[in-house]
Amino acid sequence: MEKNDVQKKLFSEINNKKLFQRSLGNSLDYVEEVFERTVFPSKQAISNLDSFNEALPDNGLPGESIIETLNKYGSPATVAQLGGRYFGFVNGSAVPAGIAAKLMATFWDQNTALNIISPISGKLEAVVEQWLNELFGFDNKCVSGFVTGTSAANFCGISAARYRILSNLGWDVNEKGLRNAPAIRIVAGKHAHSSVIKAVNMNGLGQECIEWVDTDLQGRIEHEKMPPLDNSCIVLLQAGNVNSGAFDNFNAVCKVANEAGAWVHIDGAFGLWAQCSSTLKKWTNGIHLADSWAVDGHKTLNTPYDCGIIICKHQNALRSAMHMSGSYIMKNETRDGMYHTGDMSRRSRIIELWATIKSLGKKGIDELVTNMHLRALQFASLLTEANGFEVLNEIDFNQIIVCCKTDDLTEKVMRFIQDDGTCWVGHSKWNNKRVIRISICSWATTKNDVALSFHAFKRALQKATT
Ligand SMILES: Cc1ncc(COP(=O)(O)O)c(C=O)c1O
Repeated sequence: MEKNDVQKKLFSEINNKKLFQRSLGNSLDYVEEVFERTVFPSKQAISNLDSFNEALPDNGLPGESIIETLNKYGSPATVAQLGGRYFGFVNGSAVPAGIAAKLMATFWDQNTALNIISPISGKLEAVVEQWLNELFGFDNKCVSGFVTGTSAANFCGISAARYRILSNLGWDVNEKGLRNAPAIRIVAGKHAHSSVIKAVNMNGLGQECIEWVDTDLQGRIEHEKMPPLDNSCIVLLQAGNVNSGAFDNFNAVCKVANEAGAWVHIDGAFGLWAQCSSTLKKWTNGIHLADSWAVDGHKTLNTPYDCGIIICKHQNALRSAMHMSGSYIMKNETRDGMYHTGDMSRRSRIIELWATIKSLGKKGIDELVTNMHLRALQFASLLTEANGFEVLNEIDFNQIIVCCKTDDLTEKVMRFIQDDGTCWVGHSKWNNKRVIRISICSWATTKNDVALSFHAFKRALQKATT
């Protein structure tokens, strides 16, 4: 059969294994060196990124040359997030089986909208949905949607809450929209993550309807100060404050909310996994009493990016909020993933989530999560004992907030740590102080990584004060 030029090129590339072997070879070389190289790319590597400033090509280039350009200029400009000394933001690493599964899934290129489009994806979503219920101690009727991250999961959770609350008040938001709808009250701690507020905005509720509740020095909601709740309320709680790592008191709040007929949504981006650690599950006591939960695979669980999950106790509310239809849609009798998310077509991130959970098992997840806490304790105690650093938070989980004598010195020290390359940390503000924020979120972080990183802190302080 006659092939056009682009088909000739693409068929030749797909049949010639060299392109993929090259890409795999480069990736394996990367894995070999990434644990030892400087955590942040060098200035040279970043300046070499200008090589990408090219005109849009008229004619396509050979795949191998594209891969080589990426390897030459892209790879050195990556951040060594896979290793054990990246402590920036709350960014997880990725466990090997997750990476390998994702690699294979890249070739499969599955769209997991409907079971009929990808039976393997549909099957794994249904299986992992139940595994998650078991891991988090949720009722087995809870349903999951597999989304890009916790920001998307927060959006889905608040959407389901909005649907259910309004429906209970006799209003179908899908039919009538929000104009003239009964008022929804949102109750949130002053330390709610901005992605939760964004989700409130994206759901058209607006920040004016938020009743802010004071938080304690660790950022936990002061539940005694909550306003009286009723059945028009959505209560937003968090498992893991993005700075301090602290947890709200779920038991206390959920009991009151449940009695009032309010909906509780928990942003557990990284902290929900504390439930899987025998040492840390004291912090997640009562999470099963909430109505919806947003959590990431790509943070604490260490799946590859992008992997977020919305879990909801009320299948009907989530499905109604995410509803769509079309004469061409072929539904499965039991479960189709697209009704649990805002997307229709989605890549099959469930494959690496399934592989990651299977690779670790319940015991491995416990050990992985607990180790993040132990390494945080180790880091915090080294900093506390050293002169010149002050740890400002209680180390409930994996986050450390540390500062030096003045804001300027803290900022300077952080820049020197970043330049040093041993580890990478970012900054934040905590109780009006400029702080350095350390997040231990990689399976790979060892005692030695913490010791090496602590020495980088000391070197940076010395450099900043001499
Ligand atoms: C507490 C909390 N909630 C939500 C998010 C947003 O998650 P994602 O980046 O996966 O959208 C983060 C990100 O760090 C977080 O720490």
